[in-house]
Amino acid sequence: MDKDLVADTVAAERLGTTLRRAGYSEDAIQGLLGEDAYSSERGDTPAEERRLPETPLATLVRLLFLQLPVSAEEAEAALGRDGVDALEVTGLAQVGDRIAPRARILPIGTVLLASDGFSRDGDDPADYVATYTPTARVLDSLTPRPRVDRAVDVGTGSGIHALLAAQHARHVIATDVNPRAIAYTELNAALNGLRNIECRQGSLFDPVAGEKFDLITCNAPYVVSPERRWVYRDSEFSEDEVSERVILAAAEHLTEGGYAAMLVSWLAFDENNPDERVLAWAEASGCESWILSTMNSDPLTHAAEWNSHLVGEALGEALDEWSQYFDSLGVQLVSEGAVVLHKRPDGAHAARVDELDEDELDDAGDQILRAFESRARLTELGSDNELLEARVGVASSLRLDRELEPSGGRAVDVDGKVELTEGTKHAVDASADVQEVVASLDSRMRLNEVIDSTADRLGGLLDDEVGTLREESLDVISELLELGALRFRGD
Ligand SMILES: C[S@@+](CC[C@H](N)C(=O)[O-])C[C@H]1O[C@@H](n2cnc3c(N)ncnc32)[C@H](O)[C@@H]1O
Repeated sequence: MDKDLVADTVAAERLGTTLRRAGYSEDAIQGLLGEDAYSSERGDTPAEERRLPETPLATLVRLLFLQLPVSAEEAEAALGRDGVDALEVTGLAQVGDRIAPRARILPIGTVLLASDGFSRDGDDPADYVATYTPTARVLDSLTPRPRVDRAVDVGTGSGIHALLAAQHARHVIATDVNPRAIAYTELNAALNGLRNIECRQGSLFDPVAGEKFDLITCNAPYVVSPERRWVYRDSEFSEDEVSERVILAAAEHLTEGGYAAMLVSWLAFDENNPDERVLAWAEASGCESWILSTMNSDPLTHAAEWNSHLVGEALGEALDEWSQYFDSLGVQLVSEGAVVLHKRPDGAHAARVDELDEDELDDAGDQILRAFESRARLTELGSDNELLEARVGVASSLRLDRELEPSGGRAVDVDGKVELTEGTKHAVDASADVQEVVASLDSRMRLNEVIDSTADRLGGLLDDEVGTLREESLDVISELLELGALRFRGD
């Protein structure tokens, strides 16, 4: 247990109830500070504070969201004496004439999340515990969320993924090497009235040796660097070893039918083969895998990205040190992304790699479940002829996109795509005629019938053109099934 944080779960639960009753929610904060409230940084708080009215709810936002001190009188008016006491005994604030927050509490959807809050960039302590960061959001969005029995979140930090899993898992274990992360996770479980989260301190999967889980989440400390500065960023392992360990251990700890969603990184020693290592790990996992690559940088760009808190000489020194490290290893590219594993009961496995634009990403958990279900069904079917006999329907909202160019006074198609407008927002190239087939999909009909009736409607197609339409449609439909945009009818 950390010296400043005390996992007094009774006090934390009381504080959570008080905050909810006081209306401390994501909507309320955005109502007071605007839609971009959650993107603000420490330097924005003086301006943000000046937007707030003098109300008890605004006091809570000032104290817990903007992490600014308030008077004891104001805090008591907003939280009651019990609430202020709870802040004191848990160590979330220092209580005197002024109440000085030591932590930030953010409503994230239905969850209240305490953490060290605003980063002080280079001045953060080694055991700093971050809030719901952009990478935490990526992992949240990519986590499949079926109702399950047991889940584990490895490298839990604030505990966010454990808290989210606790809403659809009977029992959740959260592990971390950092005792402050464990203390925050215990406090956060209580703040949310969750009694099904068990915290265990230790490295990676050591605290759950020999145990199996239906869901595994891990936003790993995956940044490859020569440093050991922050426990949330730099693992104790060299190169990209932490990522390999996490993927292989997750596969070992999955139950049949289970899912693991992880954020990791991987090195490439040949820039023409950027995903060789992650593909080898996926193959060795024995699980069906989906690799979603979010970033692919040369070592200098990677170094600049992860040292953006530095300026001037300090930045120059860090860039030199990181570049020398990558040169000595012969690294040409550093990639970051998500790996989702599914342990198929039949043991069959294959990997697919796609790029993912994390800024475009929406909640994709259901899409990912459908994608893995469809991949299993596609391997069962085995051939195009069997696929033609299947019934397939649309499962995600789609946009059909055609680009036309003028030619001799007429418009000709030069480009076309079917785009998912939700989830991972992937797109598949598709001609205008294939788009017609996609638009005609109806899960009551066999694909064969859908393609034939679309060909009839288009009219004037020669036999070999109908054959081409059939082949191209099957390619696009298979791809959309693998992306979880379409689904097989369940017969
Ligand atoms: C990138 S942070 C993710 C935190 C949190 N899960 C989230 O998504 O916001 C990585 C976490 O892994 C933890 N960590 C670092 N090395 C670890 C290890 N060897 N075993 C377990 N956890 C570790 C850090 O303390 C940190 O909480």
